[in-house]
Amino acid sequence: MEKPRIYLDNNATTVVAPEVKEAMLPFLTELYGNPSSLHRYGAETRVHIAEAYDHIYRLIEARDEDSIIINSCGTEGNNTVLQGVYHTLIRNGNKREIITTNIEHPSINTCLTHLAELGVEVKYLPVNKDGYLELETLAAAISDKTALVSVMWANNETGVINPIEEIAALCHKKGVLFHTDATQAMAKLPVSVKSRNIDFLTYSGHKFHAPKGVGALYIKAGIKLPPLLYGGEQMGGLRGGTHNMPGIAALGAACKIAVSGIQIELTHVKALRDRFETDILESIPDVIINGKGAPRTPNTCNIIFKGVEGEAVLWDLNEEGIAASTGSACASGDERASYVLSAMKLPPELTHSAIRFSLSRYTTAQEIERALDVIRKTVRRLRSISTSYK
Ligand SMILES: Cc1ncc(COP(=O)(O)O)c(C=O)c1O
Repeated sequence: MEKPRIYLDNNATTVVAPEVKEAMLPFLTELYGNPSSLHRYGAETRVHIAEAYDHIYRLIEARDEDSIIINSCGTEGNNTVLQGVYHTLIRNGNKREIITTNIEHPSINTCLTHLAELGVEVKYLPVNKDGYLELETLAAAISDKTALVSVMWANNETGVINPIEEIAALCHKKGVLFHTDATQAMAKLPVSVKSRNIDFLTYSGHKFHAPKGVGALYIKAGIKLPPLLYGGEQMGGLRGGTHNMPGIAALGAACKIAVSGIQIELTHVKALRDRFETDILESIPDVIINGKGAPRTPNTCNIIFKGVEGEAVLWDLNEEGIAASTGSACASGDERASYVLSAMKLPPELTHSAIRFSLSRYTTAQEIERALDVIRKTVRRLRSISTSYK
């Protein structure tokens, strides 16, 4: 008989919330009109865009005059910002540098590798051993040639939070554009653009209970960015392509429930994650929790069980119906050590032992108890046959 499944990989993706599914369904059935059409079918769907937008604006405290482009995912938003800044400020201007960190998601890194081939100077700043960017490091790096600073709000592997408000204020003071990839922070922490110091913010809906295939890019009023996708007049001409109505409705609903959901994350989810970590630290020797000394998202636990391969633990957990990850979903399945943990100065023999557990508001105390039980047995078994664990 198949074991009951426990999903602890919510930083990779999340289950679609029932309220979100409900909000999407009409657009998969009777409300199929193209909202750009002039007839009644179009009008019937068009009226729902504003309602979804209300929730999307409210969650990040954007103002009416700001733009929010609903797109396909965080990767698209990140590419739109980086390539857009290249075309507007760097290609024909006197600014030629983009500053980022060495722990960003591949949707930032690989795009910047491409831009570097086109002549952009990319500076990758180191994080400290707790996994976040220190303000002084950034202050020392910004110069007259800096066009953009791009720093993620929270890291996908460790959950460690960067001091985004301070970083944004510093960039604003220095007259440099600031982008934050908030994909792992949305709906887990209060994420706000109210300070007016954040110029661009990107995220992906499927990380907080919307389906895959919808995300958003916030652009502060007054800032011009060219589209990544040229086409029709949709999204104010900033992203061509027929509106993804099921996705827009879903993102609106996910943002609506996130307004109260953040409290659940900061209380229920955090309490479960803390209980999980405390139990592991008390019951299993030779364990390191990465980023424990830093502010972290309430749902994430990145943990090293010394002397055992992370992949081996994952395999055993999978056999017991428990889903976790060795790091980012994009990196699992390949042999590379986590560059995020390496950036935190952890040696390869430790980074190879890391596992990420990420909870959601649907995770229950019973699931955590069972997962703990299986993890304790798994680590004990693997260590008993490990040649590197004494
Ligand atoms: C921090 C971060 N940024 C961007 C992305 C990209 O999101 P998507 O794969 O939905 O485009 C992810 C996905 O894991 C992420 O964790």
